[in-house]
Amino acid sequence: MSYKQFEAIEKHAGLLGILTAVMVSIGGLAEITPLFMEAHAVKAPATVKPYDPVRLAGRDIYVREGCYLCHSQMIRALRAETQRYGHYSIAEESVYDRPFQWGSKRTGPDLARVGGKYSDLWHELHMTNPRQVVPESNMPGYPWLTKTKLDAADIQARMRGLRKLGDPYTDADIASVPGAVKDKTEMQALIAYLQGLGIKNEPVAAGTGASAPASDGGEP
Ligand code: HEC
Repeated sequence: MSYKQFEAIEKHAGLLGILTAVMVSIGGLAEITPLFMEAHAVKAPATVKPYDPVRLAGRDIYVREGCYLCHSQMIRALRAETQRYGHYSIAEESVYDRPFQWGSKRTGPDLARVGGKYSDLWHELHMTNPRQVVPESNMPGYPWLTKTKLDAADIQARMRGLRKLGDPYTDADIASVPGAVKDKTEMQALIAYLQGLGIKNEPVAAGTGASAPASDGGEP
């Protein structure tokens, strides 16, 4: 292109804008397309199972209550993080998370591997009023969670929706919901969800962040 042609483009804001948008789009597509391809290649390892009805309900309560506003669920591949939280998170662990809860805001600690760290009772006391167990905590209490029972029909509808998206729930799984959630409170569901976080799907033993994950494609 000659200097004159450049000048013509630069002096026409509209044309410059359109051509800039075209160039940015090409660059954007070149960046984003491979990521989309990779996302489809991520398959659940045998150890990562779809959420059972109670944990699924707990996950939805976690999202509803906005826990993600203060807690991430993604351990980064940095020594300070792997020493504190355990093995760094890998993509395969989140295949059944819709939407994923990775996040980047940490007012409180990361929860990706909080499962098994405390007893159910600790969680109940903590969630009812965090100051009962952590005096300096600024986390809000969620005392109403003990007052509401789970709604089986609602969970079944969610499972059917997730099945449409490819989660392997069977008719028997969906039929088992009323029995599984009977008399369970929202508090129990949220605790079940927290207690399962990261517990079975950790690629290698906690605290050994230096070693590679057992599954393929798990590089951070
Ligand atoms: C306003 C920010 C905020 C919100 C919202 C919040 N938390 Fe917290 N959370 C914290 C802070 C700060 C701590 C650390 C102090 C403590 O243990 O209470 C914490 C600690 C925790 C811990 C203990 C983690 C550990 O490894 O010791 C759990 C579990 C937890 N929160 C779960 C939840 C759940 C579930 C919700 C939603 C129902 C939630 N939090 C909402 C700020 C928050």
